[in-house]
Amino acid sequence: MTVRVGVIGAGWIGLEHIRRLTDTVTGAKVTAVTDIDAARAEEAAARVGARVLADGAELIVAEDVDAVLVTSWGPTHAEHVLNAIAAGKPVFCEKPLATTAEDCLRIVEAERAHGRRLVQVGFMRRYDAGYRQLKEVLASGGIGAPLIVHCAHRNPTVPKAYTSRMAAQDTAVHEIDVLRWLLDDEIVSAQVLRPRATTNRFPHLTDPQIMLFETANGVRIDLEVFVNCQYGYDIQCETVGERGLVRLPDPAAVTLRTEGVSGSAVLRDWKDRFADAFDTEFREWIAGIAAGEEPTGPSAWDGYAATVITDAAVQSLESDSEVVTVDMKPRPAFYAGRASTGGVA
Ligand SMILES: NC(=O)c1ccc[n+]([C@@H]2O[C@H](COP(=O)([O-])OP(=O)(O)OC[C@H]3O[C@@H](n4cnc5c(N)ncnc54)[C@H](O)[C@@H]3O)[C@@H](O)[C@H]2O)c1
Repeated sequence: MTVRVGVIGAGWIGLEHIRRLTDTVTGAKVTAVTDIDAARAEEAAARVGARVLADGAELIVAEDVDAVLVTSWGPTHAEHVLNAIAAGKPVFCEKPLATTAEDCLRIVEAERAHGRRLVQVGFMRRYDAGYRQLKEVLASGGIGAPLIVHCAHRNPTVPKAYTSRMAAQDTAVHEIDVLRWLLDDEIVSAQVLRPRATTNRFPHLTDPQIMLFETANGVRIDLEVFVNCQYGYDIQCETVGERGLVRLPDPAAVTLRTEGVSGSAVLRDWKDRFADAFDTEFREWIAGIAAGEEPTGPSAWDGYAATVITDAAVQSLESDSEVVTVDMKPRPAFYAGRASTGGVA
């Protein structure tokens, strides 16, 4: 069975995913595209022989759309996801699921009322081979109970439009999701510290930031977010347990020795770092739909959790580094009994 996908939002990541679904993933075909910028929709659709539809509402109910991909701007996600649930169609929503906790809960409630998982949120790190190896070690008890996690998320530079809040909302949100999954634990508090600021930043931006999280089991997480580090795109994650530690591998790169120096290149671009993870994410999403199964990737509940935890981090940043308790509702049994692991234990 070929899964016919309708895409809402033909911007940067929409085009990437259209290319991925067309060239890399088997069993999928993009049949419809919409964008509030009609020229973008036309161009994207023409490349893959899809038709252009007027808006998200029309695309979601179209007969030649089996599944919906939402890659529009964050504040528009909730409306499209709710419409897809109302139509009973699987929907992959790029992060964030919604920009407010209230909208995330509306989606959770709608999906629960539908009685079957339809929503998957685009937290692709769960599909990265290195993180999956980390998960296997932790889940098998290989280092005993995890106690402390040290993480860093560094970008070479960011554009002027990037704000201090985005360090939590757009950058740390990936660690927040992947750590909840890796540890199989919930984040209960957040605190954001401001170290000495780099001079390589726009004056409005607090950079770097140190984010401290605590989990329900008492694990402490420190995350350095440094988005103007200059030297490259660098993701680090080391979990210390009772009997050892496990570290995320760096991307494979040759070691070069020349002119008295030994070393290897550091990636410059996050797209290169997670390209394989995006491919795996979409292969598994499409294969699940073709098999008539519920999605197993990050759920609407995970999307809600990420939003309330990032809200807590933003509140801490803006309240002079107060420790903020995460205001999360209890997880409904509907989600407790369903996989949201991306196929890994
Ligand atoms: N998983 C990741 O690592 C990752 C990476 C990049 C972007 N994203 C997410 O993907 C989303 C899109 O990001 P982007 O970088 O492609 O942005 P973008 O601005 O390049 O593209 C968004 C597109 O959506 C269109 N659009 C906006 N509202 C619409 C609506 N209601 N209906 C139809 N089209 C609409 C815009 O015209 C634009 O073409 C964001 O939510 C972003 O956070 C996730």
